[in-house]
Amino acid sequence: MRIGALALLLLPIAKALYDAGDIVHGARPLNDVIHRAGFWALVFLGLTLAVTPLRRIARYGNLIDARRMLGVGAFCYIATHLTLFFADQMFDLGKAAHEISHRVYLIIGATAWLGLAVLTATSTDGMARRLGGLRWRRLHQAIYVIGLLALIHYFQQTKADVSVPTFAAGLFTWLMAYRLLAWWQDTTELTTASLLTLSVVVSLLTFAGEAIGIGIAFHVSPLRVLDTIFDFGAGIRPGWLVLAAGISVAALDFVRARWNGRSARVTA
Ligand code: HEM
Repeated sequence: MRIGALALLLLPIAKALYDAGDIVHGARPLNDVIHRAGFWALVFLGLTLAVTPLRRIARYGNLIDARRMLGVGAFCYIATHLTLFFADQMFDLGKAAHEISHRVYLIIGATAWLGLAVLTATSTDGMARRLGGLRWRRLHQAIYVIGLLALIHYFQQTKADVSVPTFAAGLFTWLMAYRLLAWWQDTTELTTASLLTLSVVVSLLTFAGEAIGIGIAFHVSPLRVLDTIFDFGAGIRPGWLVLAAGISVAALDFVRARWNGRSARVTA
């Protein structure tokens, strides 16, 4: 599991090396790698949040072994993101601090960065013991707020097409809604029907959120935006992708429930 997580964490570096020619000959090479590091940090943050639902749904408790590595990996990418940002400011710390404190999206990013740093520093077994199980878990629930701040930062710096940030926001909403529903039903065993319903509701929210966002940004009626969701020639809207991801997870639950029997579900 850990070797798999490490391989996954190294993939973006392999991809950047593969794309090195394009990056170097691009208009702004440093900006390109800042974007890559930020994007992959967000992806690994999302994967860290996906471990708990996935290990329950796939009845594969060993997935927990990958969680800490993915979380620490997300921090390594975000540390690189910040270091490259400093490099872009010629390592003039005063200028970098001035930039950060004068742009809302950077203040939000910096807050998320600090939060991730605290969680990474307290991610060891020794720190978990020192803080005590309950306090450690409470502290690490800050990951939900950090994920939200990272998404806001992503949206704010995106200049034109918000499809990918909207897809990321849809997946994040699914992961949060899963936890809320499990907490509300006081269970770790959401049924396949609940997972399907959750996925449909979150995908509808994604369609609505995107339509309202585009409506506000371009001063058009959100209903006109919604009219285009079946126009697949213009691209597949993020709401469909969120629905496809949700249905895949529900299908996995259905198969694993029949394969192992409901009793074999991971309860932690
Ligand atoms: C002090 C902290 C941070 C600074 C100074 C910073 C700075 C930046 C800058 C300068 C950009 C490019 C903006 C542009 O080209 O106009 C960017 C993009 C981005 N950042 Fe950050 N950031 C910080 C924290 C974070 C954190 C904590 C995350 C996520 C965990 C994150 C994720 C992203 C993403 C996803 C992008 C866009 C990547 C893409 O376009 O694909 N950043 N950030």
